[in-house]
Amino acid sequence: MNVNKLAFQKKYGPWAIVTGASDGIGRAMAIEIANLGLNLIIVARNHERLEALGNEIQKEYKVTVKAIAIDLSIINSVKNLNSQIEEYEIGLFAAIAGFGTSGYFFKANINDELNMIDVNCRSVVEQTYYFANKFISQKRGGIILMGSLVGFQGVPFASNYSATKSFIQNFAEGIYFELKPFGVDVLCSAPGPVLSGFGARAKMKMGNSSSPEEVAKETILALGEKLTVRPGFLSKFLGWSLIILPRLLRILIMRMIMNNMIQLNSK
Ligand SMILES: NC(=O)c1ccc[n+]([C@@H]2O[C@H](COP(=O)([O-])OP(=O)(O)OC[C@H]3O[C@@H](n4cnc5c(N)ncnc54)[C@H](OP(=O)(O)O)[C@@H]3O)[C@@H](O)[C@H]2O)c1
Repeated sequence: MNVNKLAFQKKYGPWAIVTGASDGIGRAMAIEIANLGLNLIIVARNHERLEALGNEIQKEYKVTVKAIAIDLSIINSVKNLNSQIEEYEIGLFAAIAGFGTSGYFFKANINDELNMIDVNCRSVVEQTYYFANKFISQKRGGIILMGSLVGFQGVPFASNYSATKSFIQNFAEGIYFELKPFGVDVLCSAPGPVLSGFGARAKMKMGNSSSPEEVAKETILALGEKLTVRPGFLSKFLGWSLIILPRLLRILIMRMIMNNMIQLNSK
């Protein structure tokens, strides 16, 4: 199945903003959206990587790209970002920036754990508030949030990370129904392991992984069609097989899976 380019541009164009576009899923998402003909604002901390991607996309897809380097964990960063994008007619917001940690929560660096809540949750809520209001007044738009397979139950050795993704899953489910009557689509993308920069930062071994391109394609296809999409085989397989089990059993199975994914020295 393919996305209808003209319909996509009419509903979500002429500009899209993608956070976390310097690597992995966000990068693939930016390319996928450019391929559908939308201009892009790409956001992450690494300015060089954003500039390189912007040049690559402008050459290949004949759209305009603006790169904004910003650390979304910093209080006021979203206000700062919003002040730089006010003049653009944005119809699509993809909040892909995020990271994970692994190991025993009680041994973790608490500043890293709080930083993760700031990036994965606080900044997403603040940006979504801005775009929800903007899109309601435009009577159209799309919001893509990044959940995860780990967001459907507690996950030992990724306790705080999985909690940030549960937060996003619940948040998306709520605003989906609040925004639908105003013509605004909300989608939560909840993949399993994806081969990206994520594994190195989270100190996890990513087996049976999907590619960022596969996740981006499935996510864009599901926008406006579903509330939650589970891109990749493992996310679908585990999703459907775990959903019938009692929550406690699901947590124990996720503990087994995580135990195999985390590096021994990070436990
Ligand atoms: N990989 C997986 O297995 C997996 C599975 C399910 C869900 N997810 C979710 O998918 C999203 C993307 O992850 P990924 O796999 O693509 O990881 P990735 O390759 O590490 O990319 C993460 C992106 O987020 C940006 N980012 C991180 N911290 C930031 C900050 N403080 N401010 C601004 N940008 C920041 C990074 O850019 P800079 O470093 O340049 O700032 C990068 O562009 C995350 O929300 C993650 O939780 C990943």
